[in-house]
Formats: sequence, structure tokens, C-alpha cells
Amino acid sequence: MSTTVCGTSLPHESAVAQITGAATYVDDMPTLQGTLHAAPILSPVAHGRLRGVDASAALAMPGVRHVVLAQDIPGDKILAAFAHDEPVLAMDTVQHVGQVIGLILADEVMTARHAARLVKLDIDALPAVLDPREAHARQSYVLPPVHVTRGEAGKVLQQSPHTLSGSFEVGGQEHFYLEGQIAYAIPHEQQQWVIHSSTQHPGEIQHWVAHALGLSNHRVRVECRRMGGGFGGKETQAGHLAVWAAVAAHKARCPVKLRLDRDDDFLITGKRHPFAYDYTAGFDNDGQLLALDLTLLVNCGFSADLSGPVADRAIFHSDNAYFLEHVAIHSYRCKTNLQSFTAFRGFGGPQGVIAIETILGDIARHLGLDPLAVRLRNLYSDSAAAPGLTTSGRRDTTHYQMQVEDNILEPLITRLADTSRYAQRRQALAAWNANSPVIKRGLALTPVKFGISFTATLFNQAGALVHVYTDGSVMVNHGGTEMGQGLHTKVAQVVADELGVPFASVLVTASDTARVPNASATAASSGTDLNGRAAQFAARNVRQNLAAFVCGLDGCGAGEVVFHQGQVITPKATRAFTDVVGMAYANRIQLWSDGFYRTPKIHYDKTTLTGRPFYYFAYGASCTEVAIDTLTGETRVLAVDILHDVGHSINPAIDIGQIEGGFVQGMGWLTSEELVWNAQGKLATHAPSTYKIPATGDIPEHLKVDLWPEANREDNVFGSKAVGEPPFMLAISVWEAIRDAVAQARGDGQPVRMDAPATPERVLKALG
Ligand code: MTE
Ligand code: MOS
Repeated sequence: MSTTVCGTSLPHESAVAQITGAATYVDDMPTLQGTLHAAPILSPVAHGRLRGVDASAALAMPGVRHVVLAQDIPGDKILAAFAHDEPVLAMDTVQHVGQVIGLILADEVMTARHAARLVKLDIDALPAVLDPREAHARQSYVLPPVHVTRGEAGKVLQQSPHTLSGSFEVGGQEHFYLEGQIAYAIPHEQQQWVIHSSTQHPGEIQHWVAHALGLSNHRVRVECRRMGGGFGGKETQAGHLAVWAAVAAHKARCPVKLRLDRDDDFLITGKRHPFAYDYTAGFDNDGQLLALDLTLLVNCGFSADLSGPVADRAIFHSDNAYFLEHVAIHSYRCKTNLQSFTAFRGFGGPQGVIAIETILGDIARHLGLDPLAVRLRNLYSDSAAAPGLTTSGRRDTTHYQMQVEDNILEPLITRLADTSRYAQRRQALAAWNANSPVIKRGLALTPVKFGISFTATLFNQAGALVHVYTDGSVMVNHGGTEMGQGLHTKVAQVVADELGVPFASVLVTASDTARVPNASATAASSGTDLNGRAAQFAARNVRQNLAAFVCGLDGCGAGEVVFHQGQVITPKATRAFTDVVGMAYANRIQLWSDGFYRTPKIHYDKTTLTGRPFYYFAYGASCTEVAIDTLTGETRVLAVDILHDVGHSINPAIDIGQIEGGFVQGMGWLTSEELVWNAQGKLATHAPSTYKIPATGDIPEHLKVDLWPEANREDNVFGSKAVGEPPFMLAISVWEAIRDAVAQARGDGQPVRMDAPATPERVLKALG
């Protein structure tokens, strides 16, 4: 296969269209005549008994057509979500402020929104649980607790020369996709439906809508050309909107569009799970971990949604890059009267990684050691010369019994420490701080090791269609979705190389459940791994048909035919690809094919959480320097050096963009993005005026990204590695650098107790 297209930094397939405004999103589609617009009726109460809904004032408004309530749902009134614990629309109880009770339909969207506010709700308030610790104390969970243990943590903790115990919390995060949640439901003839949705998972929209309408899946077709960002927030949450729009369209017998206002989007939809932690770590004089007991209290909100697999991934990443010989992890999936927390870039991984990084940072401070030295000492290693050899002689197996076969942590971290001049800067920093009474600087280098694959093995499958038309142009369609991450660009690159045609010959079209069925969510960073391979296999089938055809003409073997730069070359002749296609068509050769891929090697026992849930690991490290103002608590990220492993990059520009974007999004999570619920359980930070994501001015002046030069050691498409989520966790270096600066300011060598995000208030509090 020629690889002239893969490996090059081609612009995103929609870049020009997006910049010129020509790229369409769901709300840009011309609405059909007779379309009504929906607005949600929200619960103002965190927990209560719903006694009645009086929509008479709303219905009396000019332009208002219908009110839609739970009784209007023709199929199952419970959403077809995995735990089957969430009503489509609130029925007899409300469980969080912002829960959707019904919809108002009107001719204009603003009319519907105004009318929705006129609906009178009769609710008897009940006591609400807003805090995961309180939920845990009451044993109120959305799913049963999970414990993963290895060795004898309790016994070894007692024998450890040092122990450190602590508690802290990490906040949630609003996805803040630029395009808000939206669905447009269109009833067609004979109980057939088309849903346009901004979704990471068209197949689930299809399934949920069919379930709520009481129809079979084949009657519902879902299409999504692109999202204006998803970040995990459109994995399940987009499904609610689609179901609401479809139920409304069913009642009104006309197309219904539902586009949430930003404040409503904040109030209704799930966010990243906030976590609370309790831990005790045992270690020796060199900072080598001997045992760890870690409790993860996962704030799941009012329903399970994806909380099970998110909480599991937090367990899987509680080791991050480090060997935990004696470990006990306890994970509680706490039920609170808040939005149902959901997937968000990293999918629980960041909440696992930050725990161990925080603990190691404090161990270093407790012992007066350099945090990087402590991190290096605890790394996974397959070398027999590794420090603190275990009784088994190896330090390469995770607490969930997966052997880390592709470990590049030590060389990667060492190289970054070298190129970022970590040791020299640490010394310079101490001198700088000694002369700066108010502004203090901090430095941290932290790694990431992120497992790639859906932990639920069955989701690791994908399909694609490749069509070659008679003029030689190529269309590819696959089960993945485009949310800005460049999936369609990469898939087109793979197909172009497989057929030996220029990138411009290949077009990727909208994700569509009628073309590729049963596709998994585009999530777990595996979009390219899965769909890229499926598309490659589809293109390969077409190429093989064409190769067999020219072999017949030239009397050569299939292995002798080369497809390269728009030409088909045999030992006898060189022909244009377009000519070969035309001739093949005339000879009735099939010019299109499907392709199917399933990830090899993975298996995993859901009850014990052991096995090989991941095909491979993606690695990276980041060295970050920050400054804090000890009078105001403000922080600033000054310089960031990243070395990240994307394997053999299909598109370096896109991959570097993902690394930069993931890092900055992670930085927002840990510094400025604070979700605050008031005592009544209402999210107070429900607009950009009160919820602060990083702006261009917050991006560090020095942000350097280098790619690790080695290909994926597993057989993955083009030797690449997944890139969407792993870099998010590199921002934990910002968190650790801020804590380093706080420690330097205090100069007491004590662990730094702080909750995330490190807002100015929290930094001041940590300074004492
Ligand atoms: N990049 C952009 N620009 N927009 C997004 O919504 N989502 C992230 C990541 N990068 C996202 C993004 C998340 S949460 C995931 S899981 C991956 O992209 C999904 O796409 P992939 O599997 O194709 O990498
Ligand atoms: Mo990403 S959180 O897996 O959509």
C-alpha cells in the first residue's frame, strides 16, 4: 500500500467550509413547512412529588400549539438507557433542578420558551441529597459498589515506614460544546421517521427513539453530518433531546425542532462526574509506594446513565503510570439529586489519574524529595533491574491483571525532562522564588498512560462502506461521527492510500444509521482505530477487485499491481485509476464494498474487573510551569512542554491540535471551570457569565508539543494510536505545578490540601 496521504498534515476536510460558514449544523438546515419548535418545562425543585402540571396560561399564548407530557409517550415511558432507570419525562417525582417535565410546542422558538415559563407546577418538595458523601452515608447509590484489590493493602500499610492519609475533591465540568444540544424529528409516511441530531451515537438515538415511539429500529433513520463539539456530552445526552422531539412530533403530527438555550443546556444535561476521595498510602524513605487504600466517591447524579463504565475507568486509571503492588480500591456510585453526570473526555480516567498524581506529589513533599524522582521510582517497569523489585520479580502488571506490554514511560519521561530542562529549571525556580515575595512559581512533570478500547468489549466493532463511482471518485461512509476531532479527515486519508488515489478524490458523508447499522458511539478515542480500519478493509476489497481485473488484462499476479497517486501500475502497463475504474465497470466488476473490523486480543470479566480491557496504551508526559499570586490566589500557566505518543501519526496537524485542545480543556477543568450548586440544588453557574472556560488569553505563551517517534507496537491502522482523550490528563501537570507553587510559598514541606479546580479562593485557602 502506498502511504502518500497518511502521515501528512492535511487540513480538516471541513476547515474551509467551517471558516466560511458553509458547513451546516442541524440548526442550519432549512426547516420544513409546518415545523413546530419545542421548549422544555423544567423542574424548579431538586427532589419532590409531582402532583400536577397546569399549562393553561402557556396554551393561551398566541402561537402556542401543544403541551407534551409523559402521558403522550406512545412507547416505553422509561428511556431505553442501559440501566433503564430514567423517565423520558418526569412522571410522579422530580429528581433534580432542571429535570424535564414536558415540552411546549409553538410556531416560533422564542414563543415556546416564554410559554414554558408560564407552566404552573404543583410539586411537594422532598429532602434532597446534593453531596456524594451524604449519599454514601445513606448508602444511596445508582449502581452497586465495586471493589478491586490486589495483595494485602491493609497489612502492608501497617508495616510501611511512612503513611499518608487524606481526603480531597475534584469538581465536575460542563462540556461547553459550541453547538448546543439539538434534535429535529421528522415524521414520514407509514410510521417512518428521520431524526437529525447532533450526536456522537446515531445508533443509540435510533434505538431510543424507536423504543419511546413503540416502533422497531428499522423505522427510524438518524443522520448527523457533524457536531460543533461533543466531548462526551453528546454520547447519551443527545438521545434525550431526540426522544423529546420525536415524542412531541408524534403528538403534534408534524416535524419538531428542539434546540436548547445555553442556560437550559447547563441545567438539563449531564456533565463530568465530580469525585471525592479518601486515601491512605504506605511508602518507604525513597517514596516508593508499598500499599494504597483508595476510596472513590463518584457523584453520579439522579440516574446511572454511563456512571458504571465511567466509575470503572476511574478504577482502571487509578494507577496511571505506576505499579501498585498492594492495593484496595473502593468505588461507590453515589446517587444525588443533581443532573445525571455523564461521559466527558477521559471518561473517568482523569478522575482516577488525578488521585494518584496528587498522592505522589504529597508523598514527595512529605519526604522532601523531588516529585519527579518519586514518580520515576514508581513507574511500571518490565526490567529486572527496576527499583523495589517485587516478590514476583516484575512490576508490569496492572491491578486489573493486564500486563503492560508496550511501556515507554521511562524513556518518554526522561526525554521530556531533558528537552524541557526540568532539573535546571527546578533550581532556577527556587532561586527565583527566593527573590519574589508575592508571586511564586511552581513546576511539575506528570505522565499519562491511557487504555485504548471501550472497556465493554462488544463495542469494539465498526463497519464502513466504500463506493467508487464510474468517474473514479470515491465516497466513504462509516459508523463514526465528526465532532471537530478530524475523524472524517483521517478515514478519508486511509481510504485514499488504500486505493492509491489523491485525498481530493475521497469524500466522507454524513453518519447515517441507514448506511452503516449498529455502530458504536464515537467515543473512547477509538474512532479512527475502529472506523479507519473498517473503511480500510472496505477499500481493500474494491482494490482487490480492481487488481484481479487488471491482472486478467496483463497476465500478472495480484501482488504485482501497485495503486499509487491515481495510477494503477502492473509490470506491463501504467493506467490512470479512473480509466481502470471505467473499464472495470464495463466488465461488470463490483466497485463498492463494505468493511468490518473488530479489535483483537481484548477480553474482560465485568464482575471481577480483570482481564485485558485495552488493546494498547497511549502515553504522554507534560512539564508545566505556573505562577501564583499569593495575595489574590490567581494562577497563570507560563510554559508547557509536551511529549505525546500518537504512534505513527495519520495527520500530525490534527493530532497536535487534539493534544493542544485536550490539554487546554483539562487546564480549564483544574483551574477556572467551577460548577456551583446552591443549597436548593440549583446550578448557579449556568452561563458563560458565571462559568469560565479557558479563553485564548489563558493559553500559555509557551506551549510546545512534540510527538513520540515510534509506531504503535500493536497492529493498528497505519501504526497510529488514539489521541482524542489521553492528552486531557496531561493538564494534571498544571494542577501539580500549582500545588508545587503553593508548597514553595509556604515553605513548610507539608502536603498541600486543596480541592480542584484551583480557583483563586482555593489557592488562598491552601496557602493558609
Ligand atoms: N475534539 C474536538 N474538536 N471536539 C470534540 O468534541 N471530543 C473528544 C475527542 N476530541 C472532541 C474532540 C472525545 S471525548 C473523544 S472520545 C474523541 O475526540 C472522539 O473522537 P475519536 O475517537 O475520533 O478521537
Ligand atoms: Mo469521549 S468522553 O469517550 O466521548
